[in-house]
Amino acid sequence: MKNKLKISLRKIEEEDIPTLIEIEKTASSKTYSAMLTEKEWLDELAKGNAMVYAIIMDGEIVGDISYEMKNKNTAYISGLCVNSKYKGQGIGKEAIKILLEDLKEVKIVELLTHPDNAAAMHIYKFFGFKQVGKPKENYFGDGEPRIKMIFKK
Ligand SMILES: CC(C)(COP(=O)(O)OP(=O)(O)OC[C@H]1O[C@@H](n2cnc3c(N)ncnc32)[C@H](O)[C@@H]1OP(=O)(O)O)[C@@H](O)C(=O)NCCC(=O)NCCS
Repeated sequence: MKNKLKISLRKIEEEDIPTLIEIEKTASSKTYSAMLTEKEWLDELAKGNAMVYAIIMDGEIVGDISYEMKNKNTAYISGLCVNSKYKGQGIGKEAIKILLEDLKEVKIVELLTHPDNAAAMHIYKFFGFKQVGKPKENYFGDGEPRIKMIFKK
């Protein structure tokens, strides 16, 4: 049984970017295109409709999670990453849980993930996300497929 985690989310600031890049480096793989440049983070922060959070555990940034509102009824989870040294402790699951509570008034929550990303697929299915259609090849131009998942209330 996993211990009860004390996880919280806080909006990221520009000063967090170097830490976030170090965390993303630990998670980079064939199934995950990590955010490894300052420019990508600054562009993300500059988007008017994006909410970008650091995942905090015991006062330390252990990951990041973000979403965008596509319209009044639809949110898109645009990022989720946990420092690989803390993976498998329930942090990703808890962060999604907190985000979905924040989005409880939103009717549709969407995301894209790599079909071979077993841990991510497991978490999303746990919360009721369903796969839509077949994976699309080279979705982000990284040569890898992505599958859309939707959670409808
Ligand atoms: C995916 C990711 C966010 C998960 O974070 P995490 O904190 O390790 O996840 P948790 O510990 O909360 O939960 C992992 C769950 O996946 C399950 N899991 C892990 N590996 C699995 C596998 N190969 N097959 C099936 N389930 C698996 C675990 O058993 C756990 O589920 P449980 O609590 O029901 O037992 C993290 O590994 C990560 O940052 N990966 C790289 C970035 C990424 O892929 N992000 C997602 C983009 S869509």
